[in-house]
Parts: sequence; C-alpha cells; structure tokens
Amino acid sequence: MGFLTDSTHLHITTWVIGLILFFIAATGISKSKGIHMVLRLFYILILISGGALFFKWRVNFEYDIKFLLGILLIAMMEMILVRQAKNKSTNVFWVLFFIFLFATLFYGLKLQMGFDLF
Ligand code: HEM
Repeated sequence: MGFLTDSTHLHITTWVIGLILFFIAATGISKSKGIHMVLRLFYILILISGGALFFKWRVNFEYDIKFLLGILLIAMMEMILVRQAKNKSTNVFWVLFFIFLFATLFYGLKLQMGFDLF
C-alpha cells in the first residue's frame, strides 16, 4: 500500500478537501445537505490515509497525539454541522475546532514525514 504511506500527499489532499467542504457547509455558502454527506466520506478517507501513515511510521508518543488530535478535529466538524442543523449553539465547538486545527497542523508539520516546519 505504498501509495498511502510513501508520502503524505494523499493524506494532505484528503484533509484539505475535507476542510473546504466543512467551511462550505458550516458558513452556509451552500445549503445542500449533500455537502455534509460527501464530507462524511472524506472523514473516512482522512482516517484511512492518516491511519496508514500512523501504522507505518509511528516512532513515538507524538504520533499518538497527532492521531488523537486528528480524530478530535473531525469530531468538532461533525458536532458543529449537526448542532447547526438543530439550531443549537456552536460557539464552544468553534473554539475547540480552531484549537484542534492549529494543534493538528502543528504536530503534523512537526513529525518526521513530509514537511517538517517546527
Ligand atoms: C482534518 C484532520 C487532519 C488534519 C488537518 C491533518 C493534518 C496533517 C498534517 C498537516 C500533516 C503533515 C503532513 C506533512 O508533513 O507532509 C499530517 C500528517 C499525518 N497525519 Fe494528519 N491530519 C488530520 C487527520 C489525521 C488523522 C485522523 C490521523 C490518524 C488516523 C492522522 C495521522 C497522521 C499521520 C500519522 C501523519 C504523518 C506524520 C509525520 O510523520 O509527518 N491525521 N496530518
């Protein structure tokens, strides 16, 4: 399964598309429920591509943190969209979304594969 683990490109592609779909759905640029459905498919692709990197390259505890943060970020996206649909408050989840987003990007870019910015 080299295409999943030789580089981080596939993983990056899946989460970039996922984040774009999330912002389209969350900001109301498109009111289509289909966007949320396609986003859920991308959650799975993010998990598969991230999970493959994890199981191949995990060398330390920081990988476990990255894994957890990625999952929490997906959970916040889902909470925001579901609560918006029910007209419930999303403020807390937006704050958590941005915290987890920065933390996930930080750890992803810190770890050894691909880009190594920090
Ligand atoms: C929307 C959610 C996610 C975002 C924004 C995200 C972001 C990133 C970023 C920025 C990188 C670094 C890419 C590079 O340096 O080339 C990365 C790598 C990685 N991600 Fe994610 N990720 C997400 C979800 C996940 C999930 C759910 C998992 C685990 C199942 C995961 C596991 C990994 C692993 C293992 C790496 C490789 C780390 C390395 O050695 O550089 N990610 N991710």
